[in-house]
Amino acid sequence: MKILFIADIVGRPGREAVAAFLPELRKTYQLDLVIANAENASHGRGLTRDTATELYDYGVNFLTMGNHVWDQKDIVKFIDNENKLIRPANYPRGVPGKGYGFVSLNGIKTGIINLSGRIFLQPLDNPFTMIIPLINAMAQETPIIIVDFHAEATSEKVALGWFLNGKVSAVIGTHTHIQTADARVLNQGTAYITDAGMTGPRDSVLGVKKEIIINNFLTQMPARFEVADGVHQLNGVVLDIDEKTGKARSIQPIQRDNGETEGRRPLSP
Ligand code: FE2
Repeated sequence: MKILFIADIVGRPGREAVAAFLPELRKTYQLDLVIANAENASHGRGLTRDTATELYDYGVNFLTMGNHVWDQKDIVKFIDNENKLIRPANYPRGVPGKGYGFVSLNGIKTGIINLSGRIFLQPLDNPFTMIIPLINAMAQETPIIIVDFHAEATSEKVALGWFLNGKVSAVIGTHTHIQTADARVLNQGTAYITDAGMTGPRDSVLGVKKEIIINNFLTQMPARFEVADGVHQLNGVVLDIDEKTGKARSIQPIQRDNGETEGRRPLSP
């Protein structure tokens, strides 16, 4: 089966990039399932009900989150009733929402887990110690399990990839908004990338207007972050998974943008 994982969607430019590029990607890769990290999809912070609906309408089947999950306060009102939206599974017990879910499409059931790292992020439960019982329980339902590891430190992400090698179909890093050049299938059939990148305004600092961030580095003064605009990009990965075994056959990084100017990156095939 073919799964597209869309990297962190930032604000309106990110949503517009999904709308613009998903139809072509669906056709090119014959996609069975589309998952997206949406923790910054509303105004660059958090996720509202309307934004979630908009992304489903564009053809995204399942949404994952991260450390910005609670930034739009309304989410606590609807996350408990959502079966296509998950937040990190290592939040303490009793927190709204769920950390894993299943989606069945084209007769194939896929399990999805969202996890948060702990280095330079909130000190949630240890993702390494809590993940194995969850995977074992989900493996009763399907061999296809995709993990979105929303984390900052490359060491923590690489370590989790190796730790889950052979236990899940893919470990996909999110949160840093810069696509890393290490996509590969590990030797026991787990597809891995340290970070899938960012879907949003290309000529920005991680999605924010670059002038604001540069000024912040120059002055150390507090500043209100605003989502940039301009050229829109979509980043992500396409996974090819053997649906019988859950093992990954390939992982292909995806980069699309609508820029016509200097510095345009080559489009991936
Ligand atoms: Fe994040």
